[in-house]
Amino acid sequence: MSAVLVMGATGKVGRHVVVRLRELGHAVRPVSRSSPVRFDWADRSTWQPALAGADTLYLNVWGAVGTADPAEFTELAVRSGVRRIVALSGRGDDGEDYLLKTPYGPWAQAVLDGERAAGESGAEWTIVRPCWFAQTFEEDPKLSELRDGEVAIPVGDGTVPFVDATDIAAVAVAALTEDGHQEQSYELSGPRPLTFPEAVAEIARATGREIRQMPVEIPEYVRRLIGGGYDRAAAEMQAGPFEWLHRGKTGFLSDGVQRAIGREPRDFADYAKRAAATGVWSAGSPK
Ligand SMILES: NC(=O)c1ccc[n+]([C@@H]2O[C@H](COP(=O)([O-])OP(=O)(O)OC[C@H]3O[C@@H](n4cnc5c(N)ncnc54)[C@H](OP(=O)(O)O)[C@@H]3O)[C@@H](O)[C@H]2O)c1
Repeated sequence: MSAVLVMGATGKVGRHVVVRLRELGHAVRPVSRSSPVRFDWADRSTWQPALAGADTLYLNVWGAVGTADPAEFTELAVRSGVRRIVALSGRGDDGEDYLLKTPYGPWAQAVLDGERAAGESGAEWTIVRPCWFAQTFEEDPKLSELRDGEVAIPVGDGTVPFVDATDIAAVAVAALTEDGHQEQSYELSGPRPLTFPEAVAEIARATGREIRQMPVEIPEYVRRLIGGGYDRAAAEMQAGPFEWLHRGKTGFLSDGVQRAIGREPRDFADYAKRAAATGVWSAGSPK
């Protein structure tokens, strides 16, 4: 049986894609730098072994920045038998794509390169373009701060309708396994725009803990990250999406979840309750 190759399989969306495909009875090859079949964008000797026997590809370009052009990989994928590609990308803003101009720009450009690579590969393609994932609150730097009960948030009142990674995965799996999603770009959002302070307040409610919110200017946010061990480039990269958010053009809703899988997306409060129940934000939990 041919397999579905899932890239970024340990990631916030990829791990749900793997579980759901297996539940549906598909053969899955999960890959990342830490998987039994190792795939590393920076090590081309790992590409062909990852592709062997796969006819369907879930493309995640994280890790390709500065190391590889996604088109090189999709060309190899099609030569090796891949007939369908579903690319994880990212939603832009309402108008000028300002994220590209921030220090996060190379990562924003990488997903556009991934979209182009999928579209020009000759395989059937679907693009999945989510806005900011709810699950980013489960990774650093936000995770450590939430556990400590004090979160520094760059000031500004921009909103984002956080989308649940399980909804993104459900859309991706539909496109990987069903007909009717080819040549579609699905823009995905959750059902309601929230500011960051509102999202943190939802997490505080779900955990029953007091979480202090400390408004900071972006330069101070960057300084705090550097103080916590980030190098300057990584700290500025983390701040890039906040510069973008504060342009105030990211709060619009998209209907990709409804179009692709025929149901409403999950609300942030629902996500926060489920995540809180796992103990992820409890002080001292393993990362
Ligand atoms: N996070 C968001 O809110 C958001 C919103 C819109 C779009 N996106 C896009 O979604 C994609 C995923 O981003 P994410 O932040 O959510 O990351 P993620 O998928 O949660 O994590 C990155 C994944 O890539 C793997 N990886 C890292 N470096 C790699 C390398 N050199 N070679 C192969 N695999 C590598 C990691 O596993 P190992 O460490 O085991 O290798 C992990 O599975 C990105 O393209 C991002 O631009 C993200």
